[in-house]
Amino acid sequence: MKEIKIQINDFNLWYGGRHILKDINLQVKANRITAVIGPSGCGKTSLLRSVNRLNELIRGARHSGEILIGADEIHEPGTDVYLLRKKVAMVFQKPNLFPDTIFENLAFPLKISGVKDKELISEKITAAAVKSEIWNEVKDRMNEPALNLSVGQQQRLCIARALVSEPEIILMDEPTGSLDPVSTAKIENLIYDMKKDMTVMMVTHNMNQAGRLSDYTVFIAQGSVIEQNSTSRIFTTPQNKKTEGFISGKINLFGEEK
Ligand SMILES: Nc1ncnc2c1ncn2[C@@H]1O[C@H](COP(=O)(O)OP(=O)(O)OP(=O)(O)O)[C@@H](O)[C@H]1O
Ligand SMILES: [Mg+2]
Repeated sequence: MKEIKIQINDFNLWYGGRHILKDINLQVKANRITAVIGPSGCGKTSLLRSVNRLNELIRGARHSGEILIGADEIHEPGTDVYLLRKKVAMVFQKPNLFPDTIFENLAFPLKISGVKDKELISEKITAAAVKSEIWNEVKDRMNEPALNLSVGQQQRLCIARALVSEPEIILMDEPTGSLDPVSTAKIENLIYDMKKDMTVMMVTHNMNQAGRLSDYTVFIAQGSVIEQNSTSRIFTTPQNKKTEGFISGKINLFGEEK
């Protein structure tokens, strides 16, 4: 049995008066890829953003319930949110690099942690860029603007930047949502390799991708977990009609029956 890395207990989230996540109970195992699927607007991004407390940046957001990472409840008073986000990195659907050089983007997580040793910075960013299969494309362009890169390269650079701080968990919100098939394949390989060192929680709209990559799948609709199980069970013998409708494409991404 793999260790449980993220344990979500009776978690609810509201944005103002709107109840977005409803009584979520979930266990995410270490060194596995957990896919989160469901119609648009069902709360997938909100769930990921809850795991590193990014939702707190949204005005009017409040929650109830618990999220444990290892033994630590992340909302406990005294939790260092900065360290939490270092431990739990996030990659977004669209690359979100700063309008600065490739080097500065990669070095940012280290610099804000107070790392000054140039050799150490160089060593860590090289390792992360190699892992993210972007090294060969950027090694001679470190001082160029990061926004000169193609979107697929930018997304791999975002992944490299997320890996620089050696997170234990990586949250990926439709990481290939805006990419062509070649870039998608590269990122899928990367995600697959990540589980050796990390726990991956990934939102995807692509059922083939969820089936190909993930070990465990969570299906959410209208803010509730409808079904969760090993990916092979969810895709071959779903227990709930809604899950079956969604994965077979009878219910579209907007939750409408075709
Ligand atoms: N900053 C915000 N303020 C208010 N409501 C929000 C905010 N962000 C999201 N919502 C609402 O919360 C609900 C869940 O949104 P969320 O982005 O989590 O859905 P999602 O499942 O990721 O959808 P998609 O597949 O389209 O990305 C939606 O009704 C959305 O309109
Ligand atoms: Mg989303």
